[in-house]
Amino acid sequence: MEKTVVLITGCSSGIGLGLAVRLASDSAGAFKVYATMRNLSKKQRLLECVRNCHSSTLEILQMDITDQQSVMAAVDKIKEQRVDVLVCNAGVGLMGPLECHSYQTMKMIFDVNLFGTISTIQAFLPGMKSRKCGKIIVSSSVGGLQGVPFNDVYCASKFAVEGLCESLAIVLQHFNIHVSLIECGPVNTNFLNNVQCSDPEDGSLESVDPETRELYGQYLQHCQTLFQDVAQDTEDVLRVFMDAIRAPCPPLRHFTTQFFMPLMKLKLSCTNGSEYVRAMHKFVFASKDDKS
Ligand SMILES: NC(=O)c1ccc[n+]([C@@H]2O[C@H](COP(=O)([O-])OP(=O)(O)OC[C@H]3O[C@@H](n4cnc5c(N)ncnc54)[C@H](OP(=O)(O)O)[C@@H]3O)[C@@H](O)[C@H]2O)c1
Repeated sequence: MEKTVVLITGCSSGIGLGLAVRLASDSAGAFKVYATMRNLSKKQRLLECVRNCHSSTLEILQMDITDQQSVMAAVDKIKEQRVDVLVCNAGVGLMGPLECHSYQTMKMIFDVNLFGTISTIQAFLPGMKSRKCGKIIVSSSVGGLQGVPFNDVYCASKFAVEGLCESLAIVLQHFNIHVSLIECGPVNTNFLNNVQCSDPEDGSLESVDPETRELYGQYLQHCQTLFQDVAQDTEDVLRVFMDAIRAPCPPLRHFTTQFFMPLMKLKLSCTNGSEYVRAMHKFVFASKDDKS
């Protein structure tokens, strides 16, 4: 049987790496995986995970999603000249008071999370449309559906990705192309270490007023506790990606965790937003005693 050709962005670590390993190691050899990463000097970890023995199911390609030439060069290297499943996974986080972020840093977040995702989809969409089949799976976030304090720019970029995909999904029904957003909560990957973060220790908050600094300190503690208490293992999240890849007609949204569902429902039930804002404030900033 012909293999399903899958291309994944951001495979140097975390979810992308895990998904590439999982698909390339499929016991039935059902997938041919193009695992892409912007820096090929990081490929050793992936090779070690597949123990160098997946020559027929895995190829590693350079692809920086913010560089259109790099994206097009990767397209040209796909031997099958088609991608059945495109996984737009590469992404970066940004945390801190809004007034601390430089324009360049904020632009970089949008270049990767939004425009990089758009460029990747643009590169593979014509092929999928002409074959009248395909799946586009995007690593999104609970932060793409609900605002999170001190994640303003990251959330803005993921909200934009949600709007992009929801809009695309409507037209792509005509072409038998399914768009799926995987709504991740906290996951135990390098993501938190890789987040661009205003650090209270390094002086980057000096220009910020004391009240905001205090709130940001509380948020960082909350974030640490949240990751300790509810972060999912990558394997649990990969199961959701596999369900979306295998389903004949996957839905638009797949939640990896139910943990944030009460806040999600509150947001949808009170459309003027005030109850969500109050509840999220309580969730992050209220002391443990106030929460119970
Ligand atoms: N982990 C979480 O808690 C969490 C929660 C919600 C959503 N997500 C989403 O899940 C996705 C994967 O994150 P992860 O948890 O696996 O984190 P991760 O381990 O930090 O992986 C992020 C990947 O994106 C790559 N990347 C960054 N900029 C790129 C670019 N310009 N071109 C190509 N690749 C680029 C990174 O490559 P380098 O190694 O070269 O930097 C890395 O391979 C992201 O979209 C993230 O927003 C994660």
